Amino acid sequence: MGPLASSEPITLRVEKLVQGGYGLAHQGGQAILLPGVLPDEDVEVRRIHRGKNAAWGEVTQVLTANPHRRTPPCPYYGVCGGCDLQHAEYGYQVELKVEALRETLARIGGLDWRETIPVTPSPEFGYRMRAQLKVARVAGQVRVGFFARESHEICPIDRCLLLPDHVNAFLPILVDRLKRIRGVETIDILTGTANDLYLRVQIKGTPKTSVVDQLLSTPGCAGVLVTGAGGHPTRVGREYAVIDVGHDEYAASPECFFQVNRHLHASLIESLERELPASGKMALDLYCGAGFFTLPLARRFDHCIGVEENAASLRLARVAARARSNIRLVAGTAESFLTQLPADSRPDLVLMDPPRGGIPESVACWLREHLPQNLVYFSCEPATFARDLRRITGAGRYELVSLRAFDLFPQTHDIEVMARLRAVRTAP
Ligand SMILES: C[S@@+](CC[C@H](N)C(=O)[O-])C[C@H]1O[C@@H](n2cnc3c(N)ncnc32)[C@H](O)[C@@H]1O
Repeated sequence: MGPLASSEPITLRVEKLVQGGYGLAHQGGQAILLPGVLPDEDVEVRRIHRGKNAAWGEVTQVLTANPHRRTPPCPYYGVCGGCDLQHAEYGYQVELKVEALRETLARIGGLDWRETIPVTPSPEFGYRMRAQLKVARVAGQVRVGFFARESHEICPIDRCLLLPDHVNAFLPILVDRLKRIRGVETIDILTGTANDLYLRVQIKGTPKTSVVDQLLSTPGCAGVLVTGAGGHPTRVGREYAVIDVGHDEYAASPECFFQVNRHLHASLIESLERELPASGKMALDLYCGAGFFTLPLARRFDHCIGVEENAASLRLARVAARARSNIRLVAGTAESFLTQLPADSRPDLVLMDPPRGGIPESVACWLREHLPQNLVYFSCEPATFARDLRRITGAGRYELVSLRAFDLFPQTHDIEVMARLRAVRTAP
């Protein structure tokens, strides 16, 4: 259903922040989700859009502000679709996200977790080691930025507070280069530990070496990959950035997943290590990406198997694991890998870090049947995480031992969560 215009504005009280960063309010028994608000605020709402499962209101004025409200530091905030919590002080953002996580775990997962959920905070700004920039030409002018909020229009930016200074310093040079290159639609930019920059450029039409050469000659740029609708992708320069985390060295490239918050890489790994048994025979790292958790697992276990369906990510994982003889990397989906695993090969630990959609029921079912003693589940999507915890712990097969959160995404409603589970009964 479309918007219901109301000539008279209404006043709503925000009860709490829920999943997705929306404020929850009620009008006549109907739940209404409100963007850009904070708990306990009275706000003026003019239009309410009723969807199939929820209604959204347009906030025109904050009448009573939460004491933790602040002036958003970014000049593009509210227009740019990237951040949605900058209007809250940082410490309060973290509190709100943990409350929303707890609420989601209870509502979707049926999980009444009474203990504190420790959170690792992050420096507020300059934390992202990668970003996807949208590019368009409007009236002959090049526009580079992010999608505007709830739109596919580009909000042009000069700099982004979430990016490190050296990436921001690169942006105007990049924009200048793009004036001479036609057909660019998106640029994925990634920085390595050495502050070197890597680009993946998506263009309309066929990738040309001249485009790659022009971009690679941009000062600071170490590698460029150009992909397009026709022809083969073209790459010039170095293929991957080196990312140092503690004693480990990883390979990352803009076309593959890598944990985005460079300040919390070490915390993620240290927290995982604290949850691991001192030793073990075999660990599985399902959804292993470029091997971020595979390397630390291989220090504790005699053998570690990483499973990843994306060929480019698996190539990077092979680079990171090249000196480890106890790591085996398998191409394919987690679900098909598990069906082929011999019945007698019983991992001591299974780590899962799936995409936002979570794990399929077949993976949850395999866990309930084979009951590996230790499970570690990382997720950046509390709703599917809660659903999967319910599936895994169903029938009393697993108990949740610990929950921890990492604020990998300051200024946004997103949060990373790690759960450790233990099998309650051993498999027959
Ligand atoms: C959230 S990332 C985690 C990667 C890695 N654990 C890390 O921390 O960098 C999820 C990964 O799962 C991969 N993936 C998606 N669907 C998959 C599937 N069905 N089976 C195996 N891997 C999959 C993606 O390509 C991606 O690399």
